[in-house]
Amino acid sequence: MTDPTLSQVHEFLTQTRQGAAALRPGSVSLVGAGPGDPELLTLKALRRIAEADVVLYDNLVGPEILQWVTQGAECHYVGKKAAKHALPQDDVNQWLVDLARAGKRVVRLKGGDPFIFGRGGEEMDALLEAGIPVEVVPGITAAVGCAAYAGIPLTHRDWAQSVTFATGHLKHGLSELDWPGLSRPTQTVVFYMGMTAAAGIADALIKHGRHADTPVAVIYHGTRPDQKVVIATLGMLPEAIHAEAIKPPALLIVGEVVRLYRPGVKPEA
Ligand SMILES: C[S@@+](CC[C@H](N)C(=O)[O-])C[C@H]1O[C@@H](n2cnc3c(N)ncnc32)[C@H](O)[C@@H]1O
Repeated sequence: MTDPTLSQVHEFLTQTRQGAAALRPGSVSLVGAGPGDPELLTLKALRRIAEADVVLYDNLVGPEILQWVTQGAECHYVGKKAAKHALPQDDVNQWLVDLARAGKRVVRLKGGDPFIFGRGGEEMDALLEAGIPVEVVPGITAAVGCAAYAGIPLTHRDWAQSVTFATGHLKHGLSELDWPGLSRPTQTVVFYMGMTAAAGIADALIKHGRHADTPVAVIYHGTRPDQKVVIATLGMLPEAIHAEAIKPPALLIVGEVVRLYRPGVKPEA
């Protein structure tokens, strides 16, 4: 097949379904939908979405991805925004269990990867405890997708020998994080859900030894057509976010690798 369109890919998946293990009635697939660009879905994710009788999805899953849900299948929004839960996590867990017990083929569709700040672990545990067969289909997590579409390598032999994913949204506040560890040089730190706490994050990193001139990329709606990248420094981070009016969903990439930012590096460039 040369230059397949998405519908051809869908047809291909339907035709070859016999060769791969299908989603069984009474089971749940926790599926990562990637960071936004629908073409970053894996073939397995696409297959599971097309096989599902019921899809429960989050707010970071775009409509272009939901169009792959088969006609007649149920599709329910259970998404959350920081501190504004559409449905309590326990209710989502119970709903998944009930649907599987009713013999449905269930897809729990999440932005990025289900196991990176996505509560996939909690849902997997609840399902296993209830004796429901469950699988996990990994997705491209936001840090990886956003960095790639901004031309920022998360590691680089000259600049960063490790990368850490951290959350800026914690039960008991920023003090839960290991700031001395996160502030060491020659590493990249990516903060998810860090917009509200950006000033506190910058202060803590500087206080624990990261230079105020350390570059930071703020990436809004990474991999989507309206992706926006703002380059700042730790010392000027709150001002930059305010000046550019950046809102969630966005993440912060902190470290020397941000100097390599190449705005021209985009899949369609
Ligand atoms: C609840 S976490 C879910 C992360 C997801 N499971 C993943 O692996 O990417 C939501 C946070 O991920 C980040 N995020 C997700 N998609 C993003 C995108 N397209 N652009 C920028 N940040 C994104 C934001 O920090 C957002 O607040």
